[in-house]
Amino acid sequence: MNFSLTEEHLMIQEAARDFAQTALLPGVIERDHKQEFPDELVKKMGALGFMGIMVDPKYGGSGMDAISYVIVMEELSKIDASASVIVSVNNSLVCYGLEAFGNEAQKQKYLTKLATGEFVGAFCLSEPEAGSDATSQATTAEDKGDHYVINGTKNWITSGGRADVYLVIAQTDRAKGHRGINAFIVEKGTAGFHIGPKEDKLGIRGSDTHTLQFNDVIVPKENRIGADGFGFKFAMKTLSGGRIGIAAQALGIAAGAYELSLKYAKERKAFGTEICNHQAIAFKLADMYTDISAARMMVMKAAWDKDQGNNYDMSSAMAKLYASKVAMEHTVEAVQIHGGNGFVKDYHVERLMRDAKITQIYEGTSEIQKIVISRGLIKG
Ligand code: CAA
Repeated sequence: MNFSLTEEHLMIQEAARDFAQTALLPGVIERDHKQEFPDELVKKMGALGFMGIMVDPKYGGSGMDAISYVIVMEELSKIDASASVIVSVNNSLVCYGLEAFGNEAQKQKYLTKLATGEFVGAFCLSEPEAGSDATSQATTAEDKGDHYVINGTKNWITSGGRADVYLVIAQTDRAKGHRGINAFIVEKGTAGFHIGPKEDKLGIRGSDTHTLQFNDVIVPKENRIGADGFGFKFAMKTLSGGRIGIAAQALGIAAGAYELSLKYAKERKAFGTEICNHQAIAFKLADMYTDISAARMMVMKAAWDKDQGNNYDMSSAMAKLYASKVAMEHTVEAVQIHGGNGFVKDYHVERLMRDAKITQIYEGTSEIQKIVISRGLIKG
């Protein structure tokens, strides 16, 4: 067992930390306030290799491991969880989904652009009536021989208004249940594909979340991913990796709130001394640091499982369940440590608290993670 990061890991950590401090931090409050998608920053993250971290260099990616990916996610999320969710969806759901399960032509056409950040990807599984219950897809993809016709609505789609490539899950044969579901690549601008209004959200407000409408959208057969009926398994396998990314995001949000709290507690004075000298505050810092360290180990273990070729369904669900709980609890504590200052935007912790909540909801709620974990335990 080795808990040390390699030279390569330390270098990517430094690069991500530096980018977060110099490029993400300056406008983060304004982007959150105005709900502004960070177009230019996404391009810069592409140039740094953050949009296709684990993708093979032959498809334009950085060719790094999942440990590197979670390191980048943690550092970006300490400062800007809106930017980091764009990175996470692009890496774990879209690039990974195409690299692992797409054919060579799909990889050449789409992955090469997604991995460099030239294209942004979106993953379209959730529906108005199918969030947690993902097999109940109402969106249909009718098989017409050489093409499919997609009809339906997708909800809460990250990068929904800004993406170039959408991976869309739809029901082809209802009688076959989850084995009748397929995944398709749909390009922005395809006739009948409409982007609905942007959601006005509690947190991750700099990310772009939309409802999408598909009205008789014609998709060529070569845009189906994998064999007929593979779509649900495609979504589940892809989401297992996605949960590692979101666990790392939650970890970063918690760690960012902790770092701000420690700094504040060492500067702010009350009752004649810096507030870190009061046990009421010192014990909060101790709890935060302990829980964040535990969450980091779980996130790293899930990433390590992926790198080793182990099954990571359970370790990713556990990491997400735990890290998101830590993020929610300790961002609330961070606001408390900051007192009145914590309630205003300039100190950043109120945003981190709002951003933390989504990590308990997307890519499977905490309750869904418990389903995955308990089923894994029972199955053995
Ligand atoms: N890998 C491979 N196959 C899997 C799998 C996995 N991880 N998980 C399930 N499957 C397979 C099962 O083996 C089964 O296949 P067989 O019948 O051939 O054995 C099939 O899929 C159906 O599985 P279940 O019976 O377990 O399905 P279920 O209906 O009970 O649902 C669930 C399982 C875990 C609850 C699933 O529906 C789920 O994960 N729901 C949450 C969906 C989710 O995370 N949505 C997030 C949207 S994406 C998002 O948020 C992105 C964003 O923009 C940020």
